[in-house]
Amino acid sequence: MNPPRQETVLVTGASSGIGLELAKCFAADKSNLVLVARNTDALKTLAVELRAKFQIKIQVITADLAKPDSAEFVFQEAGRAGIEVDMLVNNAGFGLHGMFHELPLNRQLEILQVNQTALTALTGLFLPGMIERNYGGILNVGSIAAFQPGPCMALYFASKAYVQSFTEALAAELSGTNLVISVLCPGPTETNFGKVARGNKVRRRKLPGMSADFVARYGYDQFRRGRVVIIPGIANKLTVQLVRFLPRAFVRRLVKYFNQQIYRP
Ligand SMILES: NC(=O)c1ccc[n+]([C@@H]2O[C@H](COP(=O)([O-])OP(=O)(O)OC[C@H]3O[C@@H](n4cnc5c(N)ncnc54)[C@H](OP(=O)(O)O)[C@@H]3O)[C@@H](O)[C@H]2O)c1
Repeated sequence: MNPPRQETVLVTGASSGIGLELAKCFAADKSNLVLVARNTDALKTLAVELRAKFQIKIQVITADLAKPDSAEFVFQEAGRAGIEVDMLVNNAGFGLHGMFHELPLNRQLEILQVNQTALTALTGLFLPGMIERNYGGILNVGSIAAFQPGPCMALYFASKAYVQSFTEALAAELSGTNLVISVLCPGPTETNFGKVARGNKVRRRKLPGMSADFVARYGYDQFRRGRVVIIPGIANKLTVQLVRFLPRAFVRRLVKYFNQQIYRP
């Protein structure tokens, strides 16, 4: 599909990790960017770097996607700046490690707000414009966590199952249009994710992780090719297939064991 003009891509969670690397991939292809996250300084630093390197237009929007009106705010800010968003990358997300009943409920509900509600609201706000123009796409960042329940990270795994189901359904609804709807499902990746998830807990075991750069590049290439479900790496692909055939009770115990092994209270 050929862009009607130089396209604009909005990336949430562009201040670090996979989102920052995805923003770089789009920038390298000369897409203009709208960068969204809470950390304004990190976004501005990235904007300065990418403007200088690729001569593209970049708008920074500071937003806390845990706030209920944040998606509407981002949509309005983009509109005020006269920006038509062609591609939406719903990448912002976080998880918390621990037993559901022991973690602060308010903070856990923010997982649902950022990972599910903001992602859904941004999709609902930006998609009609894409459909009208019959051009665009949405890349949601899910996780291999989507494919099984996640004791000791229960809401995070559940939120990614939602992202998986929602994105695949949307892709089927919009098949036959020029729009690409994809879900990128990384496994363990070297970013700030673990630090946020464990809070004050001590890391007991370090899972070998892919680089955020590799995950983003792979995700970007497959998205541009129109693939709906994007799983980087053979080990992640195998894990996702394996859990489909193992007894569900065994999978629950296995994930609980792994999650308990990683961090110590
Ligand atoms: N790392 C992994 O092992 C892994 C595996 C599978 C899937 N993922 C998924 O990959 C995505 C990116 O995570 P990452 O691994 O790159 O972790 P990261 O380095 O912690 O990046 C998370 C990004 O989300 C943004 N974010 C978090 N809470 C936000 C909020 N309330 N409002 C606005 N932005 C918020 C952060 O920006 P600010 O802090 O500046 O707001 C940051 O830019 C997430 O959806 C995550 O679930 C990660």
